[in-house]
Amino acid sequence: MTFSDAEKAAIVSIWGKVAGHTDELGAEALERLFLSYPQTKTYFSHFNLSHGSQDLRSHGGKVLNAIGSAASHLDDLSGALSTLSDLHAYQLRVDPGNFRLLSHSIQVTLSAHFGAEFTPTAQSAWDKFLAAVSAVLVSKYR
Ligand code: HEM
Repeated sequence: MTFSDAEKAAIVSIWGKVAGHTDELGAEALERLFLSYPQTKTYFSHFNLSHGSQDLRSHGGKVLNAIGSAASHLDDLSGALSTLSDLHAYQLRVDPGNFRLLSHSIQVTLSAHFGAEFTPTAQSAWDKFLAAVSAVLVSKYR
């Protein structure tokens, strides 16, 4: 998947606002995911999923930092996400449909915090970006 210069600019610009707040925003995205789509909690039975828990903050931070790393490698998402792709496909075996749900929860979180900057154009670039990240993470399923 390729990104136009305008899409790249929108992805990098919004990422610049997320960086430094990854634990907080990541925890919120996960909380939205688990509240709206409770079936996704089954993968995290070993976590404390209470509002504000350290597990939510820590894992949310990891997820968003991985997305930030991907935002720096828009021309090589497969390479940048190779290890994570192995993890999700071979070990975690997360149902692929869940990636759309997490992508949605992340976008709602971005909209809630960066409403003015998260314009329709920026959102559509992020939608495409998160779909591309998800496609890589499910690409090795057999
Ligand atoms: C682990 C990223 C989607 C379930 C991880 C880790 C990262 C990550 C960075 C930690 C890897 C490590 O510790 O080395 C992402 C990204 C996603 C995504 C960028 C999509 C944008 C999902 C989805 C689910 C999921 C949709 C399930 C609903 C898990 C689980 C773990 C994990 C269960 C292991 C947690 C643990 O025990 O520490 N993911 N993930 N992931 N992910 Fe994902």
